[in-house]
Amino acid sequence: MKKILGIALTVMLIAGVSAVAQQKELTFYGSAEPRCVEVLAKTYEKVSGVKVNWIRMSSGETLARLRAEKKNPLADVWWGGTTDPHSIAALEGLTENYRPALWQEMDSRFRDPIGDWQVLGIYVGVLGISANEGLLKEMGLPTPTGWDDLTDPRYKGLVGVANPNTSGTALTTLATQIFLRGEDEGIEYMKRLHKNISNYTKSGVAPGILCGRGEIAIAIVFLHDVIYQIEEGYPVTAIAPKEGTGYEIGGLNLVKGAPHPELAKKFIDWLVSAEAQETQAKVGAYQLPTNTKAKVPAVSIPIDSVKTVDYDFKWVAENGVHIMDRWTREVFTLPR
Ligand code: G6P
Repeated sequence: MKKILGIALTVMLIAGVSAVAQQKELTFYGSAEPRCVEVLAKTYEKVSGVKVNWIRMSSGETLARLRAEKKNPLADVWWGGTTDPHSIAALEGLTENYRPALWQEMDSRFRDPIGDWQVLGIYVGVLGISANEGLLKEMGLPTPTGWDDLTDPRYKGLVGVANPNTSGTALTTLATQIFLRGEDEGIEYMKRLHKNISNYTKSGVAPGILCGRGEIAIAIVFLHDVIYQIEEGYPVTAIAPKEGTGYEIGGLNLVKGAPHPELAKKFIDWLVSAEAQETQAKVGAYQLPTNTKAKVPAVSIPIDSVKTVDYDFKWVAENGVHIMDRWTREVFTLPR
């Protein structure tokens, strides 16, 4: 009898242990397209057996969420979206520095955008203009070739961009103008642009979708998203602004006080691998991967092929809140 009880107990214990193993789960916030976040969650569930919960929010929105959850963090990892809100979070003590196991496989130009492994760089994307040339033609308007063209009064109500308080894309747009012209002149440019804006969206990709549907004629977006739209059959053209343009390094962060720090670190180690980065092209995300072993999608835009501004990620980490505040007070409140 004792033996039977012993066996029963052992069986129960094993069952208990495997139930705990099955319960292994982590949560991550993703700030690139939902299909990009979802494929990572599904693939990692398969390779690790860990259950992965995910929510997609824009980069600035996620920063606001981490601030709100500071005392009681709910997420373990923040993946994707532009570096800038990630680095603001790092400076505010909302994230932990972490150097992943595979750091030597990562491109040294992009893996550590503000130093000390405060933010990890996982992809690179070039900012630019999407134009619905058919619509512009119908309206008798030329296709813009650069930033200054976008302030032409003939484009009034035809240009879309997101709000830099919620969207990393829009913060990249604002910082790009500052790197091109200096801070005050950059704000002046945003005021001129403001007169032509139809609507400020929450997410960075939304103006591109509106442009593809012909609701507006021009959008300021990342060019890899325009390439995806072209593949999907939308009548849009990708334009690299002639004056030079900004770019993003997609960010990755370990949340400070993460409920599952060890699982989170393992997940981050995987997220920087070639295997994880190659999932992205399969869902039509054509950023350049930062893992040097990852296959570069044939349609990606090599960063060296575009005239870029000297984008200072550290400067935006330190001054991002200040320039967003200036934009909100000095630009957003102006009549259009
Ligand atoms: C799209 C792009 C990403 C970018 C993200 C930023 O998803 O494909 O490369 O990081 O936008 O999103 P946000 O809504 O914060 O501008």
